[in-house]
Amino acid sequence: MGLTGLCSTVLLAFLLALVGVCSARSDAPRGVAFGFVFDPKAKCEPPCEHAGICIRNSTCFCSKGYEGETCQYANCYPKCKNGGECLRPGKCRCPSGYRGRYCHKAICPQGCRNGGICVAPGICSCSEGWLGGACHTAVCTKPCLNGGKCISPNKCRCRPPFSGPHCEERKKSH
Ligand SMILES: *[C@@H]1O[C@H](CO)[C@@H](O)[C@H](O)[C@H]1NC(C)=O
Repeated sequence: MGLTGLCSTVLLAFLLALVGVCSARSDAPRGVAFGFVFDPKAKCEPPCEHAGICIRNSTCFCSKGYEGETCQYANCYPKCKNGGECLRPGKCRCPSGYRGRYCHKAICPQGCRNGGICVAPGICSCSEGWLGGACHTAVCTKPCLNGGKCISPNKCRCRPPFSGPHCEERKKSH
């Protein structure tokens, strides 16, 4: 082996070691498979984005959190939910009606009262005994009579002179 051959071998070994170090720092290398050869004269056009390295002509080795031919796409793990867009690693832009780091929280602007839970934009899942968009309407399985009002599940507020669980009794007057 001549001096030139030796130099090339050492250079190649060095570059492979460098690549090994780089890929070890990135626990999820993307864009290229393992076992590639780094070409120091490689040209990538369009250029690699987001600090990706051009390792062969038209082949980018992406830094952690990016993927795509020119490392143009950011990764979000967990993925952005409900149609959210990954802006940069771990940062989602959420469509209206959703928020949270991964757009996993739905928003109910009307609020969900009386133990209700927001399950989709503007939709409350109400606890038993409550109805309505904001779970604000109590349900009385037997209606409140004589103008009484259902104020909480199966509880009537009666108009005088009525009383009883369903306002069915008239107070005796003398
Ligand atoms: C890379 O591209 C350049 C310029 O287009 C070319 O001269 C070179 O031979 C290519 N290298 C390889 C390994 O194909």
